[in-house]
Amino acid sequence: MDTITKLHARRVWDSRGRPTVEAEVHTSHGSSARAIAPAGASTGSGEARDLRDGGTPCGGLDVMQAIEHIRHPIAQRLVGMNIQDQAAIDAALIALDGTADKSRLGGNAIVAVSLACVHAAAAAHGVPLWQHLAGSQRVALPVPEIQIFGGGAHARGRVDVQDYLVVCPGARNFAEALEWTAEVYHAAGARLAKKGQLQGVADEGGYWPSFKSNEEGLIELTRAIEDAGFKPREDVAIALDIAATQLRVGARYQLNLENRSLSAEQFGIMLERWVDAYPIVSIEDPFAEDDVEAMQHFTQRMGHRIQVVGDDFFCTDAQRIRAAAERGACNTVLIKPNQVGTVTETFAAVQAARAAGYGTIVSARSGESEDVSIVHLAIGWGVPELKVGSFSRSERMAKWNEGLRIEDYLGTHALAFPARKLFAHTH
Ligand code: PGA
Ligand code: ZN
Repeated sequence: MDTITKLHARRVWDSRGRPTVEAEVHTSHGSSARAIAPAGASTGSGEARDLRDGGTPCGGLDVMQAIEHIRHPIAQRLVGMNIQDQAAIDAALIALDGTADKSRLGGNAIVAVSLACVHAAAAAHGVPLWQHLAGSQRVALPVPEIQIFGGGAHARGRVDVQDYLVVCPGARNFAEALEWTAEVYHAAGARLAKKGQLQGVADEGGYWPSFKSNEEGLIELTRAIEDAGFKPREDVAIALDIAATQLRVGARYQLNLENRSLSAEQFGIMLERWVDAYPIVSIEDPFAEDDVEAMQHFTQRMGHRIQVVGDDFFCTDAQRIRAAAERGACNTVLIKPNQVGTVTETFAAVQAARAAGYGTIVSARSGESEDVSIVHLAIGWGVPELKVGSFSRSERMAKWNEGLRIEDYLGTHALAFPARKLFAHTH
């Protein structure tokens, strides 16, 4: 049996220049592995809580307590455990923390340790993580969902919609989807620059635009797809993340850019009109995390035409997924390991989504690093979509490039790229 011999942690820095936690695991096999905790900005209230030190250094965001927790109580508990028994490792982390939201040891400490352990287990077998997770199952590359314009909490609210993304239903493989997206990304940037609307890039690397309305983003993105030589919808389509929890004021949804406030019903009508007028195939968090009724109603009306994705709405929680499925709210689940805290609970969310007949998308956070674990989780678990932010900044490109390496390695052994099938029903 390969056991954990040493657990270490250090402070590293994320893509926003904020401190974060890196965990490092060593095993009796001689293998070792590391993982880095990501961080969200538009977080759901049901997420695992990162432990931040408070006070004045690093704007209160330092993580030295979380690191101390890994070096001492967590190390003490985990050293000697079987590195191949991820369920037992994660159960020990959950029990040692003892809170519902992982706030005592810190969600950031726990997710870094849990991910480092699964990497070390793969390393002990001498295989990459995706292969360790897939076992004898054949795998496919996931369809990338890539941000072109960034707004919301990632661009100080300059546009209300958080992410204008593209997917490539017409692409034959992962490499081609990235190539097409690169063309669209650059075409969109050229359009903005020409109109004097380019304000830099937002937190996930997408352009930070100065649009006059949220709908202008849809017009510009559709034109950028055409400028790049693609057929909107058939070749390249639009996905939105509204992140509507951030727009909620009382019972209404506030669009600051347009100086208007809409009821849930009016907001839903606006989104439906957008789906009719633009090549939109997916909308994430169209309503706030607690607006179950609006989410249910919207899914009933639109669920056969587009992906209705829950992010803050589910917080990668298997229980929430089962409850929403009973009411028919959403049809796709965003999967973020640090929302729930451990690898085992993340996989339970994937399984709950599958049992409900829901789609799944593995996703990064707005605060990221060179860590590429999520690419391996998506591939190893057979999750058909991957959302990693935009097509610039190396914390994003590291993930896309890791996917390219795995696709190259698999060659003809890969299962068919699922893009066409996934979006065949959308219109
Ligand atoms: P976050 O945003 O990482 O800032 O929470 C990502 C998303 O909403 O999908
Ligand atoms: Zn989201």
